[in-house]
Parts: sequence; C-alpha cells; structure tokens
Amino acid sequence: MGLFGGKKREDVLRFADSWDERRRSLSEMEEVVELVPGLVWRGLVGKRYVVVEPPIPPEDVLSEAEEYVLARVTPEDLEAMERLYDEAARRVLKKRKAKAKGERFDRAVEALKYYLRRNVEGLGPLEPIMMDPYVEDVTLPARGSKRFFVVLSGKPGWYETNIEVTEDEARLLVLKLAERVGRQVSLAKPRLEGKLPDGSRVHALFGQVASEGGTTLTIRKFVKRPGIAELISGGTITVEAAAYLWLLAEHGMSGFIVGETGSGKTTFLNALLSLLPTDRHIVTVEDTPEIYLPRHKNWTSLIGQPPGTAASGLSIADLMRDVLRMRPDYVVVGESRGVETRLLVQFINLGHTALTTFHSDTLEGVIARLTSDPINLPLERVADFKVAALLRREGGNRYVVRIAEIEYVDGDVELRDVFTRKMGELIGNPLRDSYLLREIAKKEDRHIQDIAEELLEKAERLEDMVARGAKLGPEIEARAG
Ligand SMILES: Nc1ncnc2c1ncn2[C@@H]1O[C@H](COP(=O)(O)OP(=O)(O)OP(=O)(O)O)[C@@H](O)[C@H]1O
Ligand SMILES: [Mg+2]
Repeated sequence: MGLFGGKKREDVLRFADSWDERRRSLSEMEEVVELVPGLVWRGLVGKRYVVVEPPIPPEDVLSEAEEYVLARVTPEDLEAMERLYDEAARRVLKKRKAKAKGERFDRAVEALKYYLRRNVEGLGPLEPIMMDPYVEDVTLPARGSKRFFVVLSGKPGWYETNIEVTEDEARLLVLKLAERVGRQVSLAKPRLEGKLPDGSRVHALFGQVASEGGTTLTIRKFVKRPGIAELISGGTITVEAAAYLWLLAEHGMSGFIVGETGSGKTTFLNALLSLLPTDRHIVTVEDTPEIYLPRHKNWTSLIGQPPGTAASGLSIADLMRDVLRMRPDYVVVGESRGVETRLLVQFINLGHTALTTFHSDTLEGVIARLTSDPINLPLERVADFKVAALLRREGGNRYVVRIAEIEYVDGDVELRDVFTRKMGELIGNPLRDSYLLREIAKKEDRHIQDIAEELLEKAERLEDMVARGAKLGPEIEARAG
C-alpha cells in the first residue's frame, strides 16, 4: 500500500485508511443504528450520542470537489447528481496524483461522495442526526460546547453528540434551514421560526444578535407514528377490521374513535385517514399539529388555539366556520371536547363525512356526554355518527377492543357490536352483522356481494402493505416517508 511514492507525492488517499477503525469503534457502542446503509451509523456510549461517518477528506479536496459540483448542478435529476459527485470525486483525487485504481482509491471516492451528497443536498454535519428516526429534539446551545444535543424517543434527558460546528458552519446551517422553511434570515432579521417540509419545527437565532455565544438552533423533529401496516403487525387491529373501517370511511360513513389518554386514538385516526383516496378533500382541525397526511395533496390542516389561551388566534370552534366554506369531503377534528361536536354533526347533515376522537373509556360514556350539558345533542343526531371504535392500552400495547355501529331505533340509540376483542382476539363478521354495509349497497345501488368483494380486496391490499412494511422495517419506512 503506497510503499513507494505514496509519501513523496503527499498521499491524498491516506485519509480513507481509517475506514475500518471507524467501523470497529461501533463494537464499543450500544443501540447502534445504521443511518445510511454501509456508510453512517450512530451508537450510544453512556449519555453520549456518537455518529460514525466515513473518513473525513482533507478540507481542500472536499471544497474543490464541492465547487466542481455546484458549478454544474442540475437538481431535478438525482441520478445525474450521483454521476456528478462521482465525477467530481475522481477528478479531484486524480488531480492530486492519486493512483486511480484499487480499493484505496474506491474507498476514498466513496467517502468523498458521501460528504458531497451530505453537504450539497443535505444539511451538512446535521444530516445524520436528522436521519435518525429515534431523534425527537435537536439543539445547538449558544454558549456551551457548540455541539448538538439530542433527545431520543423513549429515553429521558439530553444526549451530547460528537457533532461539533464552528459559528460559520452554524450560520450556514441556519441559512439552509431558512431556505427549506421558505423564510429569510439575516443579522438584521435574526429570528427563524417555521416548519420543514417533513413537518419538523425549527427555531433559530442567527449570529450574535441575541446571544453572545452566537447562533443557536432548536429543532423539534416530526416523529413518525405507526402507520396502518405497523398497527396491524403490532396487533392493534386485524386486517379484517381495518378493511371494514376503511370501506365505511371511504364510502362516507362518519365515525369516532374513543380511548383514554395515550391509548393511540390520534395515531389510529391518522392511519385510517391515510387510507382514503388521495384525491379527496380532507380538512383537519386540531389544537396541536399531530395528523400528517403526506400523500394527500388536497389536505388542509388548520391549527386552532386551545380554549382559555389569551392569544389572538382562532379557536377550534372559530375555525369550524371556515371549514364549511372549504367544501371538504372529510372534516376531521383531532379531538372533540365540547360544542365543536355540535358543528361536526351539522356538517354530517350537510353531506360531509366527519371523523373525530373522544376521550373516554367506553362508547356508552361518549354517548352520555354528547347528549348532556353542554353539548346536548338529540339522540337522533348522535346517530349521525355511524360507527365507533374503542381503543385500550395494556402496558406498551394498544388494542382496538370494540367496533360498533350506531343506530337510532325507536327513539333510542343502539350500539351494535360488529367486532369485539375476546380472549386476546378481535373477532367479528361484518358481512353478517353490519347494517352499514347493506346501507352502502342500497345507497350505491350495488349488490351486497359486490361490497363483500370490495371488502376482500381492501383486506388483500392491507396484507400487502403489512408484508412490504415488515420487509422494510420501521427505520427505512421512516426515512422513505
Ligand atoms: N397501536 C400502537 N402501537 C404502538 N404505539 C402506539 C400505538 N398507537 C399509538 N402509539 C404511540 O403511543 C403514543 C400515544 O399515541 P396517541 O397520541 O395516538 O394517543 P392518544 O390516545 O391520541 O393520546 P391523547 O389522549 O394524548 O390524545 C404515541 O407516542 C404513539 O406513537
Ligand atoms: Mg390524541
């Protein structure tokens, strides 16, 4: 390996020799997660969060290659970008008289390409942290070590990372974030607040205007919740029950999801919504942005001020009046607490489909609440919601324990069970017990057999999603999403 000549020619490939050593360091870490296949990992050592990236190229090599790329960049074509990185890396290394053959050269090219990709398309040194699906919060303290700190899901406290930036690098990073958020930031306008395309929230103060320590940055990462495939494979709901609820929602049946705090109501609602055809107009109203429907192009998310806050913003009930003007197919209220439920029922009567969640431990409890002060809905109107699902939390697991259809008969509201959880299994026979499936058949002038086929088809599609999800695993899903 470069026994002759290497030294004399100032061996530009030498930086890449530490590759194996870097990988070996992983064996001393816990909870290692691969962030970029074959290139980047992170692991934990006590309260430290350690990112292992490819060997770092000499500064002049990297900056020359970056300039080469930036002068020729065509951002719309990812394959072209990859070719450009390759070309830049090889050219710059060859220019420094590197022997353009063999494993050492290939590894140096790989490392250089990684850093080009990271710096040109990504957020530079912050990129690996942003790719970690377990990172929930990131902060760059102004006066401390100039290292990023992170919070990991399910773990208490902050972890100090090994990613350190200079003030210049921090400023460059904030400028990049501002561009992604669609705002401008400068020493004259030093505050950046906004949302990244993936839903993460950014706050930054640029330069030394607000802190002598310089630029400071906080990111609340958008944490991906389990999707329908994960809910099925995790045992929260069966394929059959999910297909049934999907069919009802797609065919305009309104409904609600019930459960206690942390029982997975919002997650379940989100998973169900994501199954709806992507051309439907969905308007969601919440007091904190939790619902996320990246595939739905015709989705409006409205965020209202929680009741009792002095802020000048609009409350959920205020926003409901705006929803009516938006002509949505689906009106979704993240969590119904009070009088907004009356408005929701009005929407149903105007022909929209309404979906929401209620905090309670029984379906009966919700009906009692809806019909008494201050909501006071007539029983007949309660039955405008056609279906209800009850979730229960048992330790770390969440289960759908009951799905019932709501019917108004003889001046009273009846709950007819279609699925119930018995001895650890969610069992039901919607073709036998569901009157809503028959109602859909009648309304759409279809034979019930046709509805049965649609149910089966939906179940098959769900099974397919589960099979694909299981192969990819949650980490890759999170990155792809
Ligand atoms: N079926 C599930 N399996 C595993 N984890 C879940 C499941 N559903 C939800 N979670 C997780 O549990 C937490 C609480 O979920 P979620 O916010 O959906 O509950 P919620 O009932 O809406 O709570 P709240 O009463 O606070 O509104 C989240 O971190 C979520 O990722
Ligand atoms: Mg919730």
